Amino acid sequence: MRKVLLTSFFFVAWLLIFGGMVWAEGEEAKKAEETPKFEYVGEAKCKVCHKDQHASWLETKHAKAYDVLSAEEKKKLLSAIADHLVSKGLAGDIAFDLVGEVYTLTHEEPWTPLRSAREFSVLLNATGRMDKAGLGVAICMGDRKKCLEEANAVIQEYRRTITKYLRWVTEKSGRLEQMENIYVVRGDGFIDEKVLSPVCTILSTTLTRLGKPIIAYATISGEAQVKVSSRGSESLIQKGLNLGEIMQLAAENFSGRGGGHDIAAGAQVPIKNVDSFIKLVNNLVKKQLAGEQIGG
Ligand code: HEC
Repeated sequence: MRKVLLTSFFFVAWLLIFGGMVWAEGEEAKKAEETPKFEYVGEAKCKVCHKDQHASWLETKHAKAYDVLSAEEKKKLLSAIADHLVSKGLAGDIAFDLVGEVYTLTHEEPWTPLRSAREFSVLLNATGRMDKAGLGVAICMGDRKKCLEEANAVIQEYRRTITKYLRWVTEKSGRLEQMENIYVVRGDGFIDEKVLSPVCTILSTTLTRLGKPIIAYATISGEAQVKVSSRGSESLIQKGLNLGEIMQLAAENFSGRGGGHDIAAGAQVPIKNVDSFIKLVNNLVKKQLAGEQIGG
């Protein structure tokens, strides 16, 4: 279960990164301040003028390049990516986090995000997080055409939103605060709590390799509460980290509530207690990683 969960977190992150080219750009943004910025525009831009070419391209294998590779070719591609990662001093096995089972919904039109169960879930996730849950339900009930167009726009908006927040975090040093045992992102007043958790997931995929979990929070509009999201990594869990336990214990200490999985957990606490809450979390992480029991 944990493996599946971990893989799916990485997958969502990967889809987002791939879809929006977000993270790399955020990191490069600082370096590229003087030089003009180039962005990956994607096929949608080309379609505007090259409508016929786009339609015929969709029918070619290039439109689904990875999907149509043979098992042998996929293996070759992945081991090349693994070699490349190793040559950059990274763990080569990350490459294998990029692949998994694919479920094709054969009654759906090809070239729509509904064809692949994974993309379908990305669509539903995006509509839910962007306050368009009704649209997601309509699509599940069978509405297509206009609804699908609208949903595609929502996915793009969702990716743009996440890109914006990731940029915000990386654009100024100090927004990603490093404490003794955790990373903290204080997104109150800026990050929308509805997308806090995917933002936290994406940040964690790079950061937790450095050996600390990440805790991010954002204000819940209209309430004197913050939403907290936390992510760990497989190696931290092996060292004893259990964020679900930490979130629950720390939140209850400030009359909030929290919980979740060992690798990914959340909480809700009063704004006025957030600093003490973070300090407590920092402490509890230290205890768990030192092998101490923190619960009762
Ligand atoms: C604003 C309209 C517009 C957009 C957007 C646009 N193109 Fe073009 N593209 C043109 C025009 C006009 C030509 C020149 C056609 C000609 O030579 O008669 C052209 C030519 C090309 C050619 C050369 C075709 C040939 O026969 O030599 C390629 C390849 C191409 N575009 C690819 C793309 C791609 C890929 C994108 C998206 C990233 C894109 N274009 C976006 C208008 C556009």
